[in-house]
Amino acid sequence: MTNSDRVNFGSRIGVILASAGSAVGLGNIWRFPYEAGQHGGAAFILIYLLCVLFMGMPVMISEFLIGRRSRANTAGAYRILAPGTPWRWVGFLGVLTGFLILSYYSVVAGWTLEFIVEAGTNSFAGKTAPDFSASFASFLQKPVLPVIWTACFLLLTHFVVVRGVKKGIERSSKLMMPLLFILVIVLAVCSVSLPGSEKGLLFLFRPDFSKVTSDVVLGAMGQAFYSLSLGMGCLCTYASYFSRDTNLAKTAGSVGVIDTCVAVLAGIIIFPAAFSVGISPDAGPELIFITLPNVFQQAFAGVPVLSYIFSLMFYILLALAALTSTISIHEVVTAYLHEEFHLSRTRAATLVTAGCLLLGAACSLSMGVWSDFTIAGMNLFNLFDFTTTKIMLPLGGMLICLFTGWYLDRRLVYAEVSNEGSLKVRFFRAYIFLVRYVAPIAIAGVFLKEWGLF
Ligand code: PFF
Repeated sequence: MTNSDRVNFGSRIGVILASAGSAVGLGNIWRFPYEAGQHGGAAFILIYLLCVLFMGMPVMISEFLIGRRSRANTAGAYRILAPGTPWRWVGFLGVLTGFLILSYYSVVAGWTLEFIVEAGTNSFAGKTAPDFSASFASFLQKPVLPVIWTACFLLLTHFVVVRGVKKGIERSSKLMMPLLFILVIVLAVCSVSLPGSEKGLLFLFRPDFSKVTSDVVLGAMGQAFYSLSLGMGCLCTYASYFSRDTNLAKTAGSVGVIDTCVAVLAGIIIFPAAFSVGISPDAGPELIFITLPNVFQQAFAGVPVLSYIFSLMFYILLALAALTSTISIHEVVTAYLHEEFHLSRTRAATLVTAGCLLLGAACSLSMGVWSDFTIAGMNLFNLFDFTTTKIMLPLGGMLICLFTGWYLDRRLVYAEVSNEGSLKVRFFRAYIFLVRYVAPIAIAGVFLKEWGLF
């Protein structure tokens, strides 16, 4: 396929919703609240916002310009923009990271399907907090069911990706993202109206700076990159489908705002509800899967139909958010195989799905029956999570900054960000400064911290 044959997203809103769909996912709704909960709430959120602004935005603009300039998959992009140089390894790193993330992300995404069924069949009714912990633990111990859900989720993703950029990705994002916003807002309003919810709001919005440690800062930074889908060429791949007149900086701004709003709204759903029924905000990764069904049960004890609707809606929302993200990760690897090895799109996607299914099944089993098998003290699921989020994404993000900040010709960068001079880019010098110094140094800080060297 030549670069000019490539499909584009059909509309500006399609571009924004597809990119925001990638960014908004389990990272916002599952990870952000528990990270904020464990790091003291409001102060964490403030630092997170600064990280999104000063690091996330420049990295996102960089990924956008690399993708749109090259109009290729992430590995092809570096081959085209920096032929014959080792920069192509940044692309390969992204593809590999995508493959690994998709494998274990699909496992958690699969859990959301199990919870939709449980909520839909009203099996939360009458259970108490210890019941929820026990039933989640026994679900993980089952050898087959979680793997089936992982497979279902991967197949759902597969069918959207196979349908292609316009009919699959753009159309599904246009349908799912607005639905997602409506659900998030409805749930947030319900949560805030619970008795005793003020404590949750104070926890979220009244910063206590005495709780800020380097751990909080670095945690917020890592969360920002993960949540914005940065560091593995995901938004770079999507940008290769942008048209020449897409305003890259504006799109990055919209994606950043949408992603941040959904994360904060997820906090507004979870904390007021949790405080209202006396559940600790630092419950950790289990917050959603174990605590929330209980929260819904208790919060609407007098009106069981409300707890039924609330929990069913919540898990549907979580699955939708995860789906728009898995689609984007799948697309990184599919586009790579499709374009670099000249496989048909369907065959490329099938290979990705099959590979992720194998690895995903292993990750899923490693949470239960295979939990005794560990490498460096971690089961396979945790090993994948650790390696990708704590090593590969920060490394990828830093290299992307160095590539645009130091390797690419500044005139090329300006031409791309300004749409060949047709847009006024007043922030250009600031962008270059951020991408050359601030973002790479900050990411290196996260990296060293995660490795315990700092
Ligand atoms: N941003 C997604 C989330 O918040 O769930 C996760 C993700 C998607 C990470 C795509 C990385 C990526 F390339």
